[in-house]
Amino acid sequence: EKVPLKLEVNGVKHKLSVEPRTTLLDLLREQLHLTGTKKGCDYGQCGACTVHVDGERVNSCLRLAVMEDGKKITTIEGLADGDKLHPMQEAFVKHDGFQCGYCTPGQIMSAVACIREGHAGSEGEIKEYMSGNICRCGAYSNIVAAIQDVKN
Ligand code: FES
Repeated sequence: EKVPLKLEVNGVKHKLSVEPRTTLLDLLREQLHLTGTKKGCDYGQCGACTVHVDGERVNSCLRLAVMEDGKKITTIEGLADGDKLHPMQEAFVKHDGFQCGYCTPGQIMSAVACIREGHAGSEGEIKEYMSGNICRCGAYSNIVAAIQDVKN
């Protein structure tokens, strides 16, 4: 049986109805068609599904949508300001912070949270904070460079 759910996603309020077992990730991708958030492992190991819930970084594959009732979600689609990319998106382009791009939305959502939460003090601190976001292409050093660029 479906359960009612209210969410604000990227500034837009939604009244939804979901199966209790639906993850936040599947809700975003399948019901709201926000496919920027990626499914890599679907069990909390890769970070491709990273979004912000009330400003906090979250692996959306590990959250049941029903637990987020009344919360504000930001996905990669909500970062840019109209045609103007978010500074972190600009920095990923400038520093080649990706190759295939599959992990990039999650990397960028984590990178924004890294600075906002004050974990970008040193290269080591950035690497530690970003360690839950796996990149199979190995773009790690460019991702760190992008974060350091935005921070400075
Ligand atoms: Fe959520 Fe991998 S899909 S951590």
